[in-house]
Amino acid sequence: VARLSKLPLNYLQNRGGIWTGRGERNYKVTVVGAEGGIGQPLSLLLKQNPLIEQLALHDVIEAKGVAADLSHICTPAEVSHFRSEELLEALQDAHVVVVAAGLPRKPGMSRDELMAANASVALTVACAVSIACPEALLAFITNPINAIVPMAAEFLKAKGVFDPNRLFGITTLDVVRSKTFIGKFMSIDPDLVDIPVIGGHAGITILPLLSQCYPKFPEAEVEELQRLRQRIQEAGTEVVEAKAGKGSATLSMAYAGAHFVNALLRGLDDEEDVLECAYVASNVAELPFLATPMLLGPNGIKQNLGLPSMNEEEKAAFEEMLPELRDSIQLGIRSAQTAM
Ligand code: LMR
Repeated sequence: VARLSKLPLNYLQNRGGIWTGRGERNYKVTVVGAEGGIGQPLSLLLKQNPLIEQLALHDVIEAKGVAADLSHICTPAEVSHFRSEELLEALQDAHVVVVAAGLPRKPGMSRDELMAANASVALTVACAVSIACPEALLAFITNPINAIVPMAAEFLKAKGVFDPNRLFGITTLDVVRSKTFIGKFMSIDPDLVDIPVIGGHAGITILPLLSQCYPKFPEAEVEELQRLRQRIQEAGTEVVEAKAGKGSATLSMAYAGAHFVNALLRGLDDEEDVLECAYVASNVAELPFLATPMLLGPNGIKQNLGLPSMNEEEKAAFEEMLPELRDSIQLGIRSAQTAM
C-alpha cells in the first residue's frame, strides 16, 4: 500500500488499457487468421479488453511470433497460439470466435469475387466450430460477408447446430465510417453520431439511414446526402484503391471488429442495452439475411430490432439493393450445398 500510494495517479487510472467496462474478465475469444493484416491489430486490441481471460490465436501460418509479442503487454488476457491443424484445440471452450482469415480484394474486384478464394476457409471454420464449440458466438469479417454468412448458416444447419442468434457478419465498419464522415460533415465529434446502417456489406447493399441519424442530420441538398451515402458505400473500395494492390482495410476493420467483439462480450456478460448493427439470419424483411440494429445478450441476439423507419428515398434505395443482396445470399447457399 505504501508503495502504491507513491505511484502517480494516472498509472491507476490507465489500468485496463483502452477499454472500459465492468468486466468479469472470464471469456475466451479465438481469433482465426490472427497473423494477417486484420488479425494482428485485432488481436492487439483484444489483448487490451478486460473481459477477455484467454485470447487464442490461430492461423495457417503459426501465430507463435504474434502470440509471444502480444503476451508481453501488461494486461491480464492470456495469449495462446495454434497451428493450422490445431483449429479444434484453438476453438475449445471459446465463447466468441472471430474470423479474420481470407484474402483481401485487389483494385477492380467486387467482394463477391473473393468467394472462390475465401469460401473454403470459412467452411473449415464453420465445420470446426460445429464440432468444438457449437455454442460459441461466431462472427465473420471474411469477405464477401453477404455470401459467407448464409454459407456458414447453411453448413451449420446441415450439421444440426445452427442457432440464428449466434452467427454474425460484422458490418460495424460501415457504422464506424458513417459516424466518421457524418461527424466531419457536421463538424462534431464523430463518436457522438449514432446512425443505423442496414442491408449488407458491399456497395449499394450498405444503407446508412441518414434520416434516422442522431444528432438530427442538418437540412442538406439531396445531392449532398447522396454523395455522403455513396462515400460510405464505397469506403472499402476507397481503401482498396489507396492501398493499390496491397490489400484492403486492416486497421479500421480491426478497430470495428474489436468493437463488435467487445459488444458480444458485454452481451454475454448480461449488460443492458448493448445495441449493434450486424448482418444476421433474419425474418424482418423478405430476404433471409439482413443487417439491422439488434440488442445483444447472454445468448447472442437478444432481440432483432427490425427495419428502422425510412424516408421515401431510403425505402427506394432499400428496394433497389435487394436483388444484389439476394444474389449474394444465393451464392452463399449454393456454395455450402456444393461443398457438402
Ligand atoms: C471494407 O469494407 O473495407 C472491407 O469489406 C474490405 C473491402 O474489400 O472493401
